[in-house]
Amino acid sequence: MKILVTGGLGYIGSHTVVELLEKGHEVVIIDNLYNSQKATHDKITAITHKPSTFVKMDATNYEGLKQLCKKHQFDGIIHFAGYKAVGESVAKPLMYYYNNLLSTITLARVAIEEGINKFIFSSSATVYGDGVSPLNEEAPLMERTNPYGETKAMSERILTDVAKANPTLNVILLRYFNPVGAHKSGLIGEVPNGTPNNLMPYITQVAKGLRDKLYIFGNDYPTIDGTGVRDYIHVVDLAKGHVAALEANKTGVNIYNLGTGKGTSVLELVNAFMSVNKVNIPYEITSRRAGDIATCYANVNKAKKELKWEAKYNVEDMVKDA
Ligand code: WQD
Repeated sequence: MKILVTGGLGYIGSHTVVELLEKGHEVVIIDNLYNSQKATHDKITAITHKPSTFVKMDATNYEGLKQLCKKHQFDGIIHFAGYKAVGESVAKPLMYYYNNLLSTITLARVAIEEGINKFIFSSSATVYGDGVSPLNEEAPLMERTNPYGETKAMSERILTDVAKANPTLNVILLRYFNPVGAHKSGLIGEVPNGTPNNLMPYITQVAKGLRDKLYIFGNDYPTIDGTGVRDYIHVVDLAKGHVAALEANKTGVNIYNLGTGKGTSVLELVNAFMSVNKVNIPYEITSRRAGDIATCYANVNKAKKELKWEAKYNVEDMVKDA
């Protein structure tokens, strides 16, 4: 299939482009390079030895997208492009609503006008808010969260309504749990701007000596050791989940959790990182981070059954590849 990948040079996008190319799909990447590097395109080529096209373009650029679609006749769109920092979204809500919603709206409009009938959207387990784990796809969407999370929930609703009104458009909403790790080549991975918000990139920066120590946000949660529990998933497994979703030929609107179904605490992850990589990660327990929940992990039965996909990598693989 010929696929338009928005945000294809970002962390999850680049790993997905690699998996698409490895499976013989044709890929055109658009990315505005806000939080990614053009050199990533060459690295994707170095890994796969397969050509792909990169166009520097914003996913809100209606005219540009129309031209691109007329030129390429895509079979599907995988939409990754978006701002993703929770804290920044609280400080700059308009920037988040404008960009993340306008890109979804514009791409859906172009998909309908140009007869592209597969649309895969990057959603997040964040839409479940403080729901009870294991979370399945029927769990109610959270009431209110931060603007970043709202843009994910709103994009889901927009795409659902648009697909209902346009039966030729088939939408798959993929709810990611906590993607970590990197491609085995070491050529692509997560390169956060400034101080990392997420746990794994913070740990790797401490391991590299870029930061003195890790701050663990709370050890008084009702979990196995008091630290927060999450469902970490290797980014390569996550990328393969997109290819499975694309090839599954589902119609209408379908929602899938992409996780491992297993919860791991912050301390378990840090300890695994230290023992697998034989490196010390000094840490200090501090107070809870505002907005954090105790536990979040997926029920992954639906993706297993309907997409014939499941995560293969374990926590040891994740910390090694990170
Ligand atoms: C994991 C655990 C922290 C950093 C967030 C967003 C979500 C999604 C992914 C975005 C928690 C603890 C973290 C640190 C710590 N979206 N922690 N010290 O909070 O599950 O999800 O990122 O792209 O929308 O909410 O992931 O990696 O930030 O935290 O102790 O320096 O690690 O408290 O328990 P989270 P995370």
